[in-house]
Amino acid sequence: MNALSPHDADGQSDREFFRNMYRLEHSVVAREVERNVLGHEVGLNGYTTVEQAQQICDALALSVGDRLLDLGAGRGWPGRLIAESSGCSLMSTDTPLQALKDAKEYVAGLDANVVAADGRALPFEAELFDAVSHADVFC
Ligand SMILES: C[S@@+](CC[C@H](N)C(=O)[O-])C[C@H]1O[C@@H](n2cnc3c(N)ncnc32)[C@H](O)[C@@H]1O
Repeated sequence: MNALSPHDADGQSDREFFRNMYRLEHSVVAREVERNVLGHEVGLNGYTTVEQAQQICDALALSVGDRLLDLGAGRGWPGRLIAESSGCSLMSTDTPLQALKDAKEYVAGLDANVVAADGRALPFEAELFDAVSHADVFC
C-alpha cells in the first residue's frame, strides 16, 4: 500500500477505492449538481476545476501535431478539454476498467486513444509524447 494513500485508514488501497468509485454510474444527480453549482457538466471526478485544466492547457501551449499523455485520466475530461482546446492528439490512461470505458466514450470523435496503464510502469517508448498532464493523480 502506498505510504501516501489517503485511504489507508479504512484498509482500502487506492486502486480498490477508484475501482469501486468508477463502478458507480455518474448519476443524473451528480451531473445536475455540477451544472447548477459549477455551471458545466464535464463529469468532475477530483478537485481539479475546469478553470485549472484550462490553465494547464494554456501553460502547455500544445497545437495540432503535438501528443499529450493524460495520466490517471479518470472518465477522461481533463485530457479532452486540453485536446479540444489545442488540437493536439490525446492518449488517456488509467487503471480501472470502468473509467477506461467511460473515457473512451467521452473522447470519441477526437484524435484520441484510451489505454490501460499504470503510471508507475508506463508501456510507452521514451519521448513519444510532447506533454504529460495528470489532474489530481499521485502514482
Ligand atoms: C482523483 S481521480 C482524478 C481523475 C481525473 N484526472 C480527473 O481529474 O477527473 C485520480 C485518478 O488517478 C488514477 N490513478 C491513481 N494511481 C494511478 C496509477 N498508479 N496509475 C494510473 N492512474 C492512477 C485513479 O484511478 C483515478 O482515476
